Amino acid sequence: DTVDWGSEDAERGGYDHYMLKEINEQPEALERTINGRITDDGRVDLEEFPAGAFDGVSEVHFLSCGTSHHASMYAQQLLRDRGIPAHAFTAGEYATTPAPVSEDTLVIAVTQSGETADTLASLRSANARGARTLAVTNVVGSTAAREADEALFIRAGPEIGVAATKTFSSQVATLALVIERLVADVTGTPSEDSEAVLSALQELPDLVNRVIRDSTASSLANRYAGSDGHFFIGRGVAYPVAREGALKLKEISYEHAEGFSAGELKHGPLALVTSETPVVAVFSGKHDRKTLNNVEEVRSRGAPVIGVAPESADNVAAAVDEFLAVPETHPDVAGILANVQLQLVSYYVANVLNRSIDKPRNLAKSVTVE
Ligand code: G6P
Repeated sequence: DTVDWGSEDAERGGYDHYMLKEINEQPEALERTINGRITDDGRVDLEEFPAGAFDGVSEVHFLSCGTSHHASMYAQQLLRDRGIPAHAFTAGEYATTPAPVSEDTLVIAVTQSGETADTLASLRSANARGARTLAVTNVVGSTAAREADEALFIRAGPEIGVAATKTFSSQVATLALVIERLVADVTGTPSEDSEAVLSALQELPDLVNRVIRDSTASSLANRYAGSDGHFFIGRGVAYPVAREGALKLKEISYEHAEGFSAGELKHGPLALVTSETPVVAVFSGKHDRKTLNNVEEVRSRGAPVIGVAPESADNVAAAVDEFLAVPETHPDVAGILANVQLQLVSYYVANVLNRSIDKPRNLAKSVTVE
């Protein structure tokens, strides 16, 4: 026997880190997430939820932590765009200061592991107060899946790297499916963009594959590792992606990074912007003009700007120092592609700095204390 298939190396499938393996697994993870859940005639089919399952829902609360919170913020934006009141709460806050709920409030606990203590505590609070509860999780048989009224699985497959990557993409895709189903039930008709979003989701595995194949993120890493700070900005769905990009970078590279809604930057954080603080601006193809104004604000303070945007966004490419393109798709889905670029940026920065990428200091894959 010359090959030890039990060794870590074999399990990492030839990649240097689980994180890089899991980034590369996203196309297949997304295939599983979506498989069988979109019908040939363009409707969402979630076995667990027969037609009418979401009738009467008047508002949606999301409870989650960390990366799962950013997936929830993304979903919150999609729901609000479709006229449904939605609020993404951090579970740690909700557990102590919960928002009022009624029997028409759908409370969705979004948790990769299904075991995060803050998320479970807030889910229990929602259950106890009579809300309708749903767990969106990666782990069959997890506590969240058992304790919520219903469970829906994201089917991303096991994630070993402490920093979540493929599960974010699968969470957003799953939530996008739930949202199209929910809007159809609540309003009696599919959302205006339903067809376009569902076909974008079907193309998503291929598009993510292209992002990974063509990304130039590794070439940026040398230039920007070791800066004074890194700011990430975006609007709409690009805002949670900016937040997630900053979280990923700080988790695995220990570089200081913060994500802001693009409009908020001038209300304080701009004081920190210098030529030593690169700004990553995320664009989805919606609200881009306003984010470009914010890019001008930081460029005039000397900050180098990295733009992540759809490949046809010539106006963005012309306004930034570095351009990371993603394939054209529906703006509601474009954020998932932009996030993959940001995962790669974080990975390569952490790699240049020789960090413990799969097991960052002080962090745990699943946090089971409040
Ligand atoms: C920890 C992990 C994060 C994760 C968060 C929520 O902080 O380090 O990567 O996003 O928990 O975990 P969950 O399993 O609830 O999604």
